[in-house]
Amino acid sequence: MNNPQLDADGRLRHLLSIEGLPKRILNQILDTAESFVGVAEREVKKVPLLRGKTVCNLFFENSTRTRTTFEIAAKRLSADVISLNVNTSSQSKGETILDTVDNLIAMHADMFVVRHSQSGAAHFIAKHVPDHIHVINAGDGRHSHPTQGLLDMFTIRKYKPDLHNLRVAIVGDVLHSRVARSEIHALTTLGVPEVRVIAPKTLLPTQVEKLGVHVFHDMKTGLKDVDVVMMLRLQNERMNGAMLPSAQEYFKTYGLTQDKLNLAKPDAIVLHPGPMNRGVEIDSSVADGSQSVILPQVTYGIAVRMAVMAMLAGGQNSGSQAGSQA
Ligand code: CP
Repeated sequence: MNNPQLDADGRLRHLLSIEGLPKRILNQILDTAESFVGVAEREVKKVPLLRGKTVCNLFFENSTRTRTTFEIAAKRLSADVISLNVNTSSQSKGETILDTVDNLIAMHADMFVVRHSQSGAAHFIAKHVPDHIHVINAGDGRHSHPTQGLLDMFTIRKYKPDLHNLRVAIVGDVLHSRVARSEIHALTTLGVPEVRVIAPKTLLPTQVEKLGVHVFHDMKTGLKDVDVVMMLRLQNERMNGAMLPSAQEYFKTYGLTQDKLNLAKPDAIVLHPGPMNRGVEIDSSVADGSQSVILPQVTYGIAVRMAVMAMLAGGQNSGSQAGSQA
């Protein structure tokens, strides 16, 4: 079957989900990102790989980290960046999403970064645009958040380089989490041998084991001897009705405290995609503690998003160009 994310030569054409992407492409993105980390340390934090290109940020759902880091990443690649304010755009007058896209293409947009509350929104746009335009999914409903999954892999690889020797636990609201889906697909594709999910039954998709994960319902057994703990936010905005007794009860059972983290390996790292609900899924002492890599995740997100945009724009050798075109 044709993969809409790859062109006929197997190169990245759109980034819509991690599911369906070969390990070769995931590693290429991570390796390319490695070469962009150093750009932030230069006096002039720019490379010219996207000079003359226009990147349009279309965020139909709120965002702090993803939107800002995509904007910074595009600017560091020397692109012109338009971040459409959807609230003040003609969407509020009834314009369809495809009409909005067509109008931006008429203004010579080259790349769209799309966040939407509906699963499939980025696929829908990718199917519509002409061949020379690229689409990146910046989070669609509960389906996928591929750049978050990739920046999480990049962060894990930085602290735990041997991915083939890791035990990883994903904790919390897996049911509503596009981040969890992307993380699971990325971890299993990259060859992490043991991926666990820890959650109450009400917050797990049916047959989640089919994704290649081991299921735990309590932190005591689930966190035992893991190398990496990936916390998830309770996605209250996607819940229909009460799925939990209370936030306090949830924190007591599934909230990550230092006591619970002590069940993991002593050098285990803690990730959270943000935004965090302190005192609901994670205690502040852990979020701000020495095992937390939550802010490095944000920083690495810029390099990962630069890598994705540079590869889409045709720089299959983008990594080496980052060094040579300083
Ligand atoms: N992790 C993440 O997607 O955060 P934002 O919603 O702030 O972009």
